[in-house]
Amino acid sequence: MRKTFQRTLITSALPYANGPVHIGHLAGVYIPADIYARYLRLKGEEVLFIGGSDEHGVPIALKAKTEGITPQEIVDRYHYIIKKSFEEFGITFDIYSRTTSAIHHQTASGFFQKLYEKGEFIEKTSEQYYDEEAGQFLADRYITGECPHCGNKHAYGDQCEVCGATLSPLDLIHPKSAVSGSIPVPKATKHWYLPLDRHEAWLKKWILEDHREWKSNVYGQCKSWLDMGLQPRAVSRDLNWGIPIPVEGGEGKVLYVWFDAPVGYISNTIEHSPDDWEKWWKDESTRLIHFIGKDNIVFHCIVFPAMLKAEGTYILPENVPANEFLNLEGDKISTSRNWAVWLHEYLEDFPGKQDVLRYVLTASAPETKDNDFTWKDFQARNNSELVAVFGNFVNRAMVLVHKYFQGRIPERGEPDDYDRATLNEFKHIKRNLEDCLNQFRFRDALKEAMNLARTGNKYLADTEPWKSVKTDAGRTKTVLNIAMQITASLAIAFEPFLPFSSEKLKRMINKKDLKWSDLGSIDLLETGLRLNQPDLLFEKIEDEAIEKQIQKLQDARKANVLKESQAAAKPLKACIGFDAFEKMDIRTGIVLECSKVPRADKLLQFKIDDGLGGRTILSGIAGYYAPEELVGKQVCFIANLEPRKIRGIESQGMILAAENADGAVAVIRPDKEVSPGSEVK
Ligand code: 2FM
Ligand code: ZN
Repeated sequence: MRKTFQRTLITSALPYANGPVHIGHLAGVYIPADIYARYLRLKGEEVLFIGGSDEHGVPIALKAKTEGITPQEIVDRYHYIIKKSFEEFGITFDIYSRTTSAIHHQTASGFFQKLYEKGEFIEKTSEQYYDEEAGQFLADRYITGECPHCGNKHAYGDQCEVCGATLSPLDLIHPKSAVSGSIPVPKATKHWYLPLDRHEAWLKKWILEDHREWKSNVYGQCKSWLDMGLQPRAVSRDLNWGIPIPVEGGEGKVLYVWFDAPVGYISNTIEHSPDDWEKWWKDESTRLIHFIGKDNIVFHCIVFPAMLKAEGTYILPENVPANEFLNLEGDKISTSRNWAVWLHEYLEDFPGKQDVLRYVLTASAPETKDNDFTWKDFQARNNSELVAVFGNFVNRAMVLVHKYFQGRIPERGEPDDYDRATLNEFKHIKRNLEDCLNQFRFRDALKEAMNLARTGNKYLADTEPWKSVKTDAGRTKTVLNIAMQITASLAIAFEPFLPFSSEKLKRMINKKDLKWSDLGSIDLLETGLRLNQPDLLFEKIEDEAIEKQIQKLQDARKANVLKESQAAAKPLKACIGFDAFEKMDIRTGIVLECSKVPRADKLLQFKIDDGLGGRTILSGIAGYYAPEELVGKQVCFIANLEPRKIRGIESQGMILAAENADGAVAVIRPDKEVSPGSEVK
């Protein structure tokens, strides 16, 4: 049986306060959540929309350590930057708070205590690395060492970033503490675990049977977790940044960040509505919806519901419409590689164009699969959709009413067949939009709204009121009346998506109080209503502005290549004196012949004109050059290296080549022709 709900509690993932927010955040979580909140409010429903910063966890503690400041200073810095970006983009949180607030510490601590007292945890002791010099246990990220799979010397305790292997700190060869540089030792430590296995049966029924309507990407991920079988999950950590464990034996330990963060939704509700917060969390007639990105699915669909159920007095989420990821110009968005469009920078470059980004990010939202943001697409959608369709229609209709009817809504006569056909299309807009929005299909909903503007545009183009005005004033009045009724509906239809433009449009048509239920009505603007002066809703974005953005990304890419090549460069060898250098006799020569050495995959045999009568040199570069590629080319070689026999052939020197970090080899050559035997110094 379908439940009926009286109110909706919307939560949006709390972003980590260790960097500013970018377009990926906006597209994946905050724009969809805001569209939904605005839509329900427009319908007159009771809504509470919760946001806030996630301020605990190892990465924040590590960043503080690297910068030599406290974690609190880090989160203070970013919390306000993030909050401001959300405000500027019109994300209408009812509260945007933070997990370092006193109320959150109390709430999360109390939540843990209640589960502890109810016997909902198990306690386990296991061996974890301990830094004796720093006197602390080490989180996985705090330990580096050699990857047992690929030999990377700088792998982390949870992952090797070179080969991608998932690791446990105890897998690392030669582990080293990132805190003191000392060698950590395994030491027993006790932690509290939420035994998810105990919750498996009801979770299976609740998700796999009762919530088949969840988005397929969400349902699919839950199903594969549940099919694998759930394991107990640690909810405490040995760390000194976070919420202290409030029970005996918890000294020096804090709540795992993924235990405290979702409780942040509850704390923020309490902070917002201290007197009646419980109606939002404990009343079955509240519909709880979590907006998140795909990496958060397991926490919101399995772990947090298990926590809520274990506590015993809370409702469970009704839906978790998680999005996939947004990429940028073909690559994964990355904070550390500065591969992102930061919201605060966007607004510096495109002041006042919040709605353009809201539009593009909704139109290409990663709703069912990862999607790509490109600046060219951004420009095309602005110029050929917002400007050419929506903006153009509104502007034409407004200008014509001003031109022919002194800015007053003209009287509508009897519609003809063509009018009726247009109005017929228009009649379904509300139902179509609602169908999409109710199912969290925001891209489709936006398309519906844009189609309405297209209908309007076509209507004006086909009816040509600028022609009929000369012959049939009544007809012109009817057409422009209808065009303006469509305009008023556009202000409503676009309001959840483009709130700034919708506001501007409502001012232009002199109607502030349009409601969702008015959508699709043809009597929104009464005859004689005086319109305000038209102003362009959108402006064309020129190539120059787009090229500037593309250049910015190219600069970031170059900086990354440089950083990566520096990181990949081998450490310098010990210093040598000038004498040692002078002892080496490096010469140039010309390759006369080159052939593969039989039964030796890597070896090439060279005959070199060295200006001294010629010599043979063997070199292990067959993997990188075909023999004929080098014939006739100049090379450099060490001429006084002691001859060595390789595969029965005497090699009289060594050809110089540079080796890339990935092992690829390039032969070194003079960049101008020099005579064979010239000295290299
Ligand atoms: O992935 C993240 O950015 C997390 N900070 C999301 C937390 S959501 C919730 F649990 F607070
Ligand atoms: Zn590796």
